[in-house]
Amino acid sequence: MLDFQAILKGIHQDAIHASDKGVVASYIPELAHIDKNNFGIHLRTSRGETYGAGEFNKPFSIQSISKVLSLAKAMSLIGEDVWKRVDVEPSGHPFNQLALLEVENGIPRNPLINSGALVIADVLVSHLENPKADFLKFVREITNDSNIKYNEAVAISEKNTGFKNYAAANLLKSFKNLQNPVEEVLDFYFHQCALEMTCTQLTKTFFFLANKGTCLLNKVHLKESQVKRINAIMLTCGFYDEAGEFAFEVGLPGKSGVGGGIVALLPDNFVITTWSPGLNKKGNSKLGMLALEAFTTRTKRSIF
Ligand code: DON
Repeated sequence: MLDFQAILKGIHQDAIHASDKGVVASYIPELAHIDKNNFGIHLRTSRGETYGAGEFNKPFSIQSISKVLSLAKAMSLIGEDVWKRVDVEPSGHPFNQLALLEVENGIPRNPLINSGALVIADVLVSHLENPKADFLKFVREITNDSNIKYNEAVAISEKNTGFKNYAAANLLKSFKNLQNPVEEVLDFYFHQCALEMTCTQLTKTFFFLANKGTCLLNKVHLKESQVKRINAIMLTCGFYDEAGEFAFEVGLPGKSGVGGGIVALLPDNFVITTWSPGLNKKGNSKLGMLALEAFTTRTKRSIF
């Protein structure tokens, strides 16, 4: 029998003693003051056992991790039509790169880079009656937690400085791949990224993707075939130009955010979340990636 608690404790110890903890993202000013000595890790098995170490109950900004949730909601609303407007190929480029978008006529490479997530945000703005409120309701429902909130200060901070996202949205608009006004889509997008959660909450949120589309409340949100697609996209695109590295080292579908969070899962087995705000050069949590590599190595649990 694996002693998950001892494994998480060991990983936490290694992390807090690491000499290089990466660099906290500062291009969203509100994130710049987060202490990079925070480290949390939380595991939830499909049988409902939970284990945690470190700061796993401290809320942080989930940022790009939200792109998986918006994609799930969009697929539940319009199904395969999503793929008419966004592709499913890894970009091999940073999350905010715009050159490919221009060359490829406004069709983003995948829904997890910023331009792709903006197209998905546009789908939600078109199909939800009250986009921000309805999306929050969806996230609260799949997590079975009504305390989840947007951090308005983070959303405003990104709105004031998100010039590249404005550029991406305008480029998409010029290619007619944005149906709603740029301001409206960005307001929704900055809020989805500003969702705040703890590691414990995030492992619950992502449970439905390890459980064939059925959330903790036993409600079916997606078909099995749709969950297969989302997990495949996380594996191939979830870490941008470091997706190969994550698959190679960790061997799980997962998603990172510049707030320092990472969620990864093994279908029908577990969901695991790490939070360590210091990022590596590719914008993914430095210690989070190392922690997950240690976890799959020590437990021998990965998709491969
Ligand atoms: O759009 C942005 O730049 C941020 N709101 C999210 C980027 C992000 O989290 C990239 N992930 N590692």
